[in-house]
Amino acid sequence: MIKFVTIFGLILLFGVTPCLAQGEHIRRLAAELLVAHGDARVLASQPQMKSLHKKGLNDRLRGSLSGLEILIRLADEEARERRTDAQLVVGRLTFFLRGNNLDEFTKTLSGLIKRYPLATNNILPAILTPARSKQAIEIHQEYCAACHNEPDNNVERPAKNLTLQLKTMAQTEFVARMIIGVRGDPSTGLGNPLSDEEIAALVAYYQAR
Ligand code: HEC
Repeated sequence: MIKFVTIFGLILLFGVTPCLAQGEHIRRLAAELLVAHGDARVLASQPQMKSLHKKGLNDRLRGSLSGLEILIRLADEEARERRTDAQLVVGRLTFFLRGNNLDEFTKTLSGLIKRYPLATNNILPAILTPARSKQAIEIHQEYCAACHNEPDNNVERPAKNLTLQLKTMAQTEFVARMIIGVRGDPSTGLGNPLSDEEIAALVAYYQAR
């Protein structure tokens, strides 16, 4: 899932104003859970998908599970409350994924998603104002379009057309993808360089296109 996208300039141009309404680890966990849930849904509902892309999604899910136990622990520490037996639940998820039991895999994730919901109040509803439209176009054209506008479908994990992708899923899931799918580069730290307001602008813009 780790991808080094050179969007260093974003930091200089737009500034970083992380608005952490929700604890950082809980937010990351909540987003990971929603994306994994969505990826499992895509795998289960599109049996005709190219085997190349199936492998890409399976690898992504495995990657997500490999960091999940520690993420749950960190989120519980942040909440000062042990909500989950992290080892047990990740063991179950790994077992279901290995056995290609996407039904049980998804159900287990749904339980976790209820426990760790993603707070999207800084981002949704994504209303497109003229200022946001301008900002989103600038960011998108400068930093996203080159990879995402014309996806190369001959790789395992293509960069998708974001406008089309948003229309295939709940907005909350897309927001989760924006939270964990965009990375900075090693010189800026690997965190997402986009602020919540920038994510909101982009989501509103993709939604309106
Ligand atoms: C250098 C090429 C490149 C650039 C630039 C880039 N991306 Fe991506 N992006 C990718 C690739 C490749 C993936 C798929 C990664 C994967 O499947 O693990 C991806 C994944 C994503 C995802 C997650 C999609 C999903 O299915 O979960 C989102 C959201 C996203 N990018 C948004 C953006 C935005 C917004 C920008 C601009 C600020 C951007 N990306 C810039 C290549 C790029």
